[in-house]
Amino acid sequence: MAVETAGGTLVIEGGHSLRGPVVISGSKNATMGAMAAALLVPDECILENVPRIGDVEQMARVLRSLGAAVEWTGEHTLRLSCAELHGSSPPTELVGNLRGSFLVMGALLGRLGAASCAPPGGDVIGQRPIDVHLKGFEALGATVGREGDRYVAEGKALRGATVFADYPSVLGTQNLMLVAVTTPGETTIINAAAEPEVQSLAAMLNAMGAKIAGAGSHTIRIEGVEGLRGTRYRIIPDRLEAGTYAIAAAITRGEVEVRHVNLEHLQSLIAKLREAGVEVEAEGDTLRARGVAELKPLTIQALPYPGLATDLQAPMAVLLTQADGVSYVHERVFDNRLLYVSELRQMGAEVVTTGTTTAIISGPTPLVGGRVRALDVRAGAALILAGLAARGRTEITDIYHVDRGYERIDEKLRSLGAVIERV
Ligand code: EPU
Repeated sequence: MAVETAGGTLVIEGGHSLRGPVVISGSKNATMGAMAAALLVPDECILENVPRIGDVEQMARVLRSLGAAVEWTGEHTLRLSCAELHGSSPPTELVGNLRGSFLVMGALLGRLGAASCAPPGGDVIGQRPIDVHLKGFEALGATVGREGDRYVAEGKALRGATVFADYPSVLGTQNLMLVAVTTPGETTIINAAAEPEVQSLAAMLNAMGAKIAGAGSHTIRIEGVEGLRGTRYRIIPDRLEAGTYAIAAAITRGEVEVRHVNLEHLQSLIAKLREAGVEVEAEGDTLRARGVAELKPLTIQALPYPGLATDLQAPMAVLLTQADGVSYVHERVFDNRLLYVSELRQMGAEVVTTGTTTAIISGPTPLVGGRVRALDVRAGAALILAGLAARGRTEITDIYHVDRGYERIDEKLRSLGAVIERV
């Protein structure tokens, strides 16, 4: 039942309005934290609503390399059993292309008192330091060093402490939570990340017996407990996949009912779509987005939550190529997340960048099909959106990047009326 991260190319015949319902999968990034949390206990953890995507398969390989049993027991249900861990150090080749894999550091340090891991890979979107993670481990009393290509953390007698994060890093906050939940005393993370994926990890850990308060704010308090137990936990909906389909509706002037979402997590996107003139109805766990003939230009700023998600910056930029006027896109989370702009230009977009974090888009420009490359998971999704709106045929290569984070994207788009094939 393993999902293949098919490399490959997507071929899109553009110009078809998307219509109908689409069901959103579980969150990729919340699943990374949940899988790492399972390492904390010898009991079984059952995760529901797990997306069938490349990054989940890769994280499963990382966990198995440490002695965990990880198996699918249903289409979206994952059973993890970490009774007998035989290692505290995943092989470098497994972690090199998966950012979330670095979460094993916090979990193993908490469970075994020692962990080591090569610097995590991930998308090429800027410098991605891990000082927040490492300084946090040190603040709790761990010794952190470098041995060859790996970071090594050791700490048999950790103590709760107040930790100030220089930046509200999502994975950094999660890593500190993973180690602090069983560290004696109280840990306070100041300037913690507030993202829903952080809240989700806190909810799962609390269901396992942890005492975490304040997740969702920038101050998280954790009272260390002696032991945790296994749990059954349902992964939250993927707000980034949801956003991508809402934008797909808008850019193709279609109407899509995006189902099984958490609307609270989508407020920034809804606000900006409405400002652009897109008709959005939000009720219960459904968001309905309807495209309009004339889109208004916007200024958007990608920011930590509850600001507009950096992961939706590229998809929104593609939408703004169709707006009537000049739009400004400011990326304020990563320092090099506009690399997709050169691919977009090849499709006829009029975009200039100033530095590596601001793009100025003049629209509307008709997009035309071409052969472009997915540079990372979100840049790839953005090019798919461009292809859906473009005249003619678009070929997007290196689609494995997109498959790392989007479940069956070609099938879901086809069910909405897109003409899209995987070759
Ligand atoms: N940063 C630091 N020091 C650190 C860590 C981060 O200065 O120790 C800076 C980074 O340089 C960057 C900013 O903080 O400028 C944000 O990085 P953060 O650590 O918050 O990102 P991350 O935890 O590595 C997660 C998601 C990303 C998402 C970001 C921001 C996972 C597996 N990844 O990465 O998701 O863009 O948070 O929300 O959870 C994606 O899904 O496509 C993706 C890239």
